[in-house]
Amino acid sequence: MVERSFWQKTKWKLVISVALSVIIWIVSGLIGFPRLFQWMFMGYVIGGLLFFILLDARPMKERSGGAAVLSVIIFYLIISFVYTINGALWPQYNPEEEKEKIAKLMKSVVSPKQKIGELEAKVEELSKKVEELSTRPAAPVAAPAPSGEAAKKAAEKVAGIPAKAGPSPELIAQGKEVYDLYECYNCHKIGGKGGVKRRGPELDHAGKEFTAEQLKKRIWYPYAPGTKATKGFEKEFEEQTMPDYYNEQISKEEMAALVAYVLSLK
Ligand code: HEC
Repeated sequence: MVERSFWQKTKWKLVISVALSVIIWIVSGLIGFPRLFQWMFMGYVIGGLLFFILLDARPMKERSGGAAVLSVIIFYLIISFVYTINGALWPQYNPEEEKEKIAKLMKSVVSPKQKIGELEAKVEELSKKVEELSTRPAAPVAAPAPSGEAAKKAAEKVAGIPAKAGPSPELIAQGKEVYDLYECYNCHKIGGKGGVKRRGPELDHAGKEFTAEQLKKRIWYPYAPGTKATKGFEKEFEEQTMPDYYNEQISKEEMAALVAYVLSLK
């Protein structure tokens, strides 16, 4: 049998590898894999190509004794070196980062005791207000009773949410942090970024589509009676893809910032 040249043996492997690379790159891009993963897949294709080229290599001369042992050791060292370098080149999972996130989350979880304390303070504040109003000297015209709206505003003030004031850039920046902390980006895209793991509506124009109240409700209680699914996301709504536990995690202060951030997206 005529020995085929290296080029003849390798030609088709190369063609197949290039075709595979193109297909994998496009498909993984369409699925939404980050660029880094796409490069990693390319690495696998090249690894496969090298493997098949190596399969065609002429067998080595047989070795024995000290030469055989030495060969095994050298081979072991080379492979270890390649693996170590390869491992060091790719970004690594950093447990410290995750720990930091968990610590932040734990800090924001309000204990029942804290909650009761908050409510008590609120009640006290409101009763003070009522007292103030009732001890006011009677005006010729009936004194304004704390109407529903006024009471709500007062309650909001107590809760630390300014009743009315344009959101400051600091608050918006804080809101972005809250957004990242609770990993909204896993499902939502903003400016084309995010929404890789699961599908949710883009939030690029959410600031135009919602009021602050609506957003708060939508995030704290996504399945409150009367909430309608976003168009095109009826199935996800049905399956309750959007987490329904944010009311236990996101504090009032965080929500105020988060809402300011989302409202700034127009
Ligand atoms: C696990 C996926 C997932 C996560 C995480 C998630 N969401 Fe959602 N979200 C959805 C889906 C799916 C919808 C659409 C269906 C629905 O209304 O339930 C949605 C709807 C919304 C809407 C309404 C959008 C519209 O155009 O109608 C807003 C606003 C929103 N999410 C904000 C947030 C914020 C803020 C966070 C982070 C605190 C978050 N989401 C986290 C999946 C998610």
